[in-house]
Amino acid sequence: MIGREVDAALIDTAVRAALGQLTPGQCAWHIKVPAGRYRRDDAASRPRVGVPVGRDCMKTHVIVNGEAHDRDVGPRLLLSDFIRQALGLTGTNVGCEYGVCGSCTVLLDGEPVRSCITLAVQVDGRRLTTVEGLTNGEDLHALQRAFTACHGLQCGFCTPGFLMTLLPVYNRAKHLEADEIREVISGNLCRCTGYQQIVEAVRLALNGAAALAESPTDDG
Ligand code: FES
Ligand code: FES
Repeated sequence: MIGREVDAALIDTAVRAALGQLTPGQCAWHIKVPAGRYRRDDAASRPRVGVPVGRDCMKTHVIVNGEAHDRDVGPRLLLSDFIRQALGLTGTNVGCEYGVCGSCTVLLDGEPVRSCITLAVQVDGRRLTTVEGLTNGEDLHALQRAFTACHGLQCGFCTPGFLMTLLPVYNRAKHLEADEIREVISGNLCRCTGYQQIVEAVRLALNGAAALAESPTDDG
C-alpha cells in the first residue's frame, strides 16, 4: 500500500487486512497497539501492530453514565482504552498512563479511579461515570459552570480528571476551606493554571459566590 493515494477503498482494504489477523472467536479489542516510546527509524523497537495479546474474551456488563453496555473484552484491555475506543467516550483523557497525573479519572460505583491502571474487565457488573455523564443535555454541571466562571482551565486537558475527582465531594455537599480543596485535588496535575483558579472554581461550586467573596484565596 506504500506509495498509493489514501482513499476509502484503501482504508477498507487495510482494515480488512488487520481484522484478518484475528483468530475465530477472538474479539477486536484483543488487538492493541502497545504503549511506549520507540524511534521511528528503529524498526526493531516499533510496537507490532495487530499482535493478539490474549485469546479469551470476557463478557463484561457495565452501566456507563446510566446506559447498559455488554461487550466482549480482552483480559488485558485497560479501562481507559475501553472507554475511549470501545465506547467512543473521548472526554476521558490519558496523560501519564501510569496512575500519576489523574487526567484519566472516572468514577467506579461513585468513587474516583484511574482508568489507565484499571483493567476493563474489573468494571463488570459495576457502575461507571465519565465526564460525559456530568451534563444533563445541554446543561453543564455546577462544577463545570464554576470552572468556566473562574477560568479554572486553559488547555483543558486535565479538566475532566479534576471534575471527576471533585464530583463525589460536590455530591456530599460539604463546605471545604481552600486548604482542604487543595488536599482533594492533590492527586491531579495541571500544567497550565497554577491551581489557584481551580481552587476558586471549587470554592464557588461548593461554597457559593458569597463564600468566595467573603474569604479570598490569596493564601497561595
Ligand atoms: S493517565 Fe492515568 S493517571 Fe495519568
Ligand atoms: S488546563 Fe492545561 S493542563 Fe490543566
